[in-house]
Amino acid sequence: MELKGLILSGGTGTRLRPITYTSAKQLVPVANKPVLFYGIEALRDAGISEIGIGVGDTAPEIEEAVGDGSRWGVEVTYIPQEAPLGLAHAVLTAEEYLGDSSFVMYLGDNLLRDGIHDLVDNFVRNRPEALILLQEVPNPEAYGVAECEGDTVVRLVEKPKDPRSNLALVGIYMFTPEIFECARRIEPSARGELEITDAIQCLIDRGLRVESHVVKGWWKDTGKLEDMLEANRLILDAIETDIRGRVESSEVHGRVVVEEGARVSDCTIRGPVIIGRDTYVHDSYIGPYTSIDRDVEIGNSEVEHSIILAQSRVLDLHGRMEGSLVGRDVKIIRLDQKPRAYRFMVGDNSWIGII
Ligand code: TTP
Repeated sequence: MELKGLILSGGTGTRLRPITYTSAKQLVPVANKPVLFYGIEALRDAGISEIGIGVGDTAPEIEEAVGDGSRWGVEVTYIPQEAPLGLAHAVLTAEEYLGDSSFVMYLGDNLLRDGIHDLVDNFVRNRPEALILLQEVPNPEAYGVAECEGDTVVRLVEKPKDPRSNLALVGIYMFTPEIFECARRIEPSARGELEITDAIQCLIDRGLRVESHVVKGWWKDTGKLEDMLEANRLILDAIETDIRGRVESSEVHGRVVVEEGARVSDCTIRGPVIIGRDTYVHDSYIGPYTSIDRDVEIGNSEVEHSIILAQSRVLDLHGRMEGSLVGRDVKIIRLDQKPRAYRFMVGDNSWIGII
């Protein structure tokens, strides 16, 4: 049985503003690679070669970054969703593309350490109507929660006040075309979205088999800052040293990647750290779990546990920067101008912590 892939990359991304005012959250790089690319690779590695990508307002940027998929040896088709009306709405939008294929639905801002190869095999072998991935979480009330009997799912509840299990839905699902009928039957939820949990509950109510698999390796939904930084930490934890750029008069400890064209001089770098193409880092300390994208300059500064996007400059910072996500083409610089004062040009929903 050939499965298709459906990656959802629409949505509004309110929790990652202001980054998402100008850019798709699925394209924020984790260890200098857009989150979305990890999902494409997970589907490809599970043997899926036809992938539909659901897109919203950020469609042009996503199409520009992903192209036709040939870079991964897959065939990508873009599926515009007129508005982010819910995951089950996104499924309906893709009905024509998916036709009578079973499919894997993958949320474009999710990362799963162990991939989905074995799960796809399981799904194809056991042929349930749906296979959902679950993970034990300490705060199930923040998630869609599943109640199971063995591997069989008996009930799903979206963000329950009084959760009956600690098994949260991971953003990766496998479906047969039966899901379309259920997505059509359900009504929008209180937040006005067609919820995928309701559509799956409808499968259960119709007596169809919904199986679950509890994921043991890590899983991250990168929809907010802390989770994005945590995903960056988890991915960087697995990198190997690879120095392609120039490193001069610097101390480099632990696993560090310096991409081509990058220059590091008079620095202490304590990995895991990745320094992107054509980036210049000088007279600085770069600490663990930092990803610096391409064409960035960091000078006379200390940066740790942060993600800095392309073309930004961080110069002469007196304190250490940490736990930060710096967008593209941002300047954090010290001014000699009088009167001596903080000067900000900050977008809506930004936040700045000062010491
Ligand atoms: P969410 O993170 O649940 O929603 P969101 O992107 O609107 O973010 P926020 O809650 O911060 O406003 O969405 C999960 C993934 O699914 C994400 O990659 C966006 C995508 N998505 C769609 O493609 N269409 C939709 O209708 C929705 C709700 C989400």
